[in-house]
Amino acid sequence: MQKTFSIIKPDAVKRNLIGHINQMIESSDLKILASKKMYLTKNQAELFYKVHNEKPFYNSLIEYMTSGPVQVQVLEGKDAIVKYRKIMGATNPFEAEDGTIRKLYAESIEANSVHGSDSEENAKIEINFFFSGSELV
Ligand code: CMP
Repeated sequence: MQKTFSIIKPDAVKRNLIGHINQMIESSDLKILASKKMYLTKNQAELFYKVHNEKPFYNSLIEYMTSGPVQVQVLEGKDAIVKYRKIMGATNPFEAEDGTIRKLYAESIEANSVHGSDSEENAKIEINFFFSGSELV
């Protein structure tokens, strides 16, 4: 069993898509161990996305991620990291496969509805950034 970290981003929360996205997650045999709705502070968003701080889209990304509430979640299942990235689809929704979350729901490469960890190491860091061990049930 493996854990991964997910964010349902402001564009999707705004459009009432938490339930639709979580249905896709659960029907793919991933368990939602923890889930909370919150506003990211500017500081949290900057820290979370600090690997992108040299990128041209960084400032816009921080503004977007703090523009409304997000749903942060921990998912668990067999090969959860790869499985969730498959369900999400490509970062750019125009390149995402049919049936993926981003193909169905993303508005743009920035407002792409969901985030998922890209490695086991980052999954640990991202989970610990938002949740304590006792919240994962
Ligand atoms: P995410 O998977 O959360 O990782 C970085 C985020 O930056 C990405 O999803 C998008 O929301 C955002 N982003 C904005 N522009 C770009 C871009 N040109 N390439 C990649 N990511 C982008």
